[in-house]
Amino acid sequence: MAKRNVDLLLLNSGELLTCAGPAEGIRGAALERVERLEGGAVAIDAGRIVAIGPSEQIERQFDATERIDAGGRLVSPGLVDPHSHLLYGGTRHEEYESLLTSRGAPPTMERGIQSTVRRTRDADDAALQAQAQADLDLMLAHGTTTLEAKTGYGLRMDDELRLLRLTATLRHAVDVVPTFLPLHVLPDEYAARRGDYIGEAIAALPQAARLARYCDVSCDPSCFTADECAAVGEAALGLGMRIRVHADQTGDAGGAALAARLHASAADHLDYANDEGLRAMAAAGTVATLLPGVTLHLCEMTPRLRNGSLEAPSKPFLPQLARRAIDAGVVVALSTDYNPGSCPTQSMQIVMQLAARLFRLSYAAVWNMCTLNAARALDLSHDRGSIELGKRADLLVWTVPAHGLAINRFGVNQVDTVIAAGRVVARDGRIIDSAVRSFVQPA
Ligand code: NIG
Ligand code: FE
Repeated sequence: MAKRNVDLLLLNSGELLTCAGPAEGIRGAALERVERLEGGAVAIDAGRIVAIGPSEQIERQFDATERIDAGGRLVSPGLVDPHSHLLYGGTRHEEYESLLTSRGAPPTMERGIQSTVRRTRDADDAALQAQAQADLDLMLAHGTTTLEAKTGYGLRMDDELRLLRLTATLRHAVDVVPTFLPLHVLPDEYAARRGDYIGEAIAALPQAARLARYCDVSCDPSCFTADECAAVGEAALGLGMRIRVHADQTGDAGGAALAARLHASAADHLDYANDEGLRAMAAAGTVATLLPGVTLHLCEMTPRLRNGSLEAPSKPFLPQLARRAIDAGVVVALSTDYNPGSCPTQSMQIVMQLAARLFRLSYAAVWNMCTLNAARALDLSHDRGSIELGKRADLLVWTVPAHGLAINRFGVNQVDTVIAAGRVVARDGRIIDSAVRSFVQPA
């Protein structure tokens, strides 16, 4: 039988971790299993996966322009990062030190965000674009092939729309999904005019809807009320946008229930979400995105040393939150929440490693949460997030042979080769071609 010619063959994995599952996402007890094929291989053509099977079988059936020998190492889907704030100006490392040492008052979340807002408004377009490109390079080298990117550091509608336009100019092998986040926190200049701010956010939505698939709102005691978020969310839904929610990060503001009511694609953080809200999310198909990088970086599970004595950690209950969300039947995903304040890491690998350690999750659960379930959080699980026939060929070859080892080890880049939409874009952990736009047809 004549062999079929394809663009690329990926052969001789030690373990082909497919992370296959239903497009609705993997939930409950099913999280404890992750689909894998020992010694598996993949055939790729025109940016899509055209065959999966044992290496000998794939070799018998296909010839290819390019071949990669995985040499007994782990092959997985590309990682999906469904929550980031990609475009921002400045850094906040100096004020962060006061949180670590307890010398001086650590900035509140609102003050921290406003300081990044000032620096973002002052930054010129070229600097913001260059930083975003460099961040995308790092993310890609660490295995992220799809990234959600929010605005939220403009907080004047002209500035917010500018950030969306800049996001649209990015040309990168990481597929960037833009989100408009006008309701991050109330900017200082609107302190006495909350209603005006909400009105201006609603008025900006028709323009935002041309540039972004999603509208995000922060439903939190430090940010906006459920009613304020509902007003903006309903207007966005009316324009055909879908909703994401920063929910209940510093207290229970009813964010989980609001996300369910708006049929949000995802609600993220959820630290203080109540069980009823989580159950409503499960029924509505809203994904819960947990952010262990925030937990680590804000030292929320670490006691604080103040004047020589230990103060209890602020959020020792976060492992319970992960368990409550899983038990409520919610589809749970993981993300970086990459931003300069609460989580300055570009790496989904460290997020996976932290999720296992801080939230006490199994290797299988972590993998399902950062692949198929993370794709589900971006309404893309029909198209990516797992190694399945017809899906976008976003694949990683790791330096290690087993999926558990990728989580057991931590803190260094364990991704060797990155294939994004069927093209080899990184090898030996280094980018070889990041400035490619996806050429693959949407599913
Ligand atoms: O972690 N409501 C939003 N909270 C942000 C904080 C970002 C920052 O500190 O700049 C978040 O997503
Ligand atoms: Fe965020």
